[in-house]
Amino acid sequence: MALPQHVKIVEVGPRDGLQNEPEAVPAEVKIELIERLAAAGLPAVEAGAFVSPKWVPQMAGSDGVVRGIRRRAGTSYPVLTPNMKGFEAAMEAGAEEVAVFGAASESFSRRNINCSIAESLERFRPVVEAARERGVPVRGYVSCVLGCPYEGAIDPDAVAGVAASLFEMGCYEISLGDTIGVGTPLKARAMVQAVAARVPLASLAAHFHDTYGQALANLFAVLEQGVATIDSAVAGLGGCPYAPGAAGNVATEDVLYMLDGMGIGTGVDLEAVSGAGRYICDALGRAPVSKVAQALQASAERKARTAG
Ligand code: HMG
Ligand code: MG
Repeated sequence: MALPQHVKIVEVGPRDGLQNEPEAVPAEVKIELIERLAAAGLPAVEAGAFVSPKWVPQMAGSDGVVRGIRRRAGTSYPVLTPNMKGFEAAMEAGAEEVAVFGAASESFSRRNINCSIAESLERFRPVVEAARERGVPVRGYVSCVLGCPYEGAIDPDAVAGVAASLFEMGCYEISLGDTIGVGTPLKARAMVQAVAARVPLASLAAHFHDTYGQALANLFAVLEQGVATIDSAVAGLGGCPYAPGAAGNVATEDVLYMLDGMGIGTGVDLEAVSGAGRYICDALGRAPVSKVAQALQASAERKARTAG
């Protein structure tokens, strides 16, 4: 087992984070956040979701966000598109990368996107096909890979089956979502092992929520297996509206501190991400849940006191 030398971080805060905030965040604040995160060196910043505004009102106006972002060369700005309606709206707004999102749990699939797993794959197929015709890359998510809020434990083979279907359909990468953050390291490893038997490891991403405080440990376990793409959210924002009790994604600051400390390259500036975290937390009127963000803030305050 060898750790990767470089890890790609996919920042999901502006989507996975803000979709679960009780208050609607204005488009200009989302745009500023996305631009700050891209400027920090993040290679991918998920910018929004073209889903029903009745289901997830927080993501209404994603078209304005996509239109408003000043693009940085080398950064991608994927958006969620659960069906052709979402895909067409995303294309109209100028999105250049999309993601479809399925689940390894039937009950979660029904609650989240109102259809069975098999039906969801049939809805994704034309999206992936239309994207291929336009040269638009498609990412695929599998939710509930380490547990479901409605069904409990999930069989790693069920995860592998959905992941393989999405990959064979044409998704370039499969993001494995511990949607409710219930996983522990050996279970995370067993799940990745099952998936990697059907999808190349280089095409897998870890998307771990931190509800039970296990996300960093789980990430370390799968980094050792060779997973080299990690989804995280600035300031630890997030959750999922259809996964009651789910806390935020693992914080980007925490992931960066761990990777920096292990000498693993990311090309991302921790201080700059932390600044973007303070920006969005000020806008939301709350403190970051990221331990690293809190420690950096305390250290900056100590330094300011000593200097003064
Ligand atoms: P549905 O009700 O089955 O869809 O919803 P429908 O085709 O029957 O249409 C019903 C209404 O929705 C119609 O409007 C459609 O026009 C509209 P009405 O006639 O009632 O006014 N509609 C849409 N509107 C905007 N954009 C669209 C769209 N499609 C239909 N794309 C649907 C199906 C998928 C749309 C719905 O269930 C939905 O929007 N779900 C969103 C779920 C969601 O966004 N969840 C959070 C993201 S997933 C997540 O967080 C997990 C992840 O982070 C990984 C992890 O952590 O595991 C990715
Ligand atoms: Mg998520």
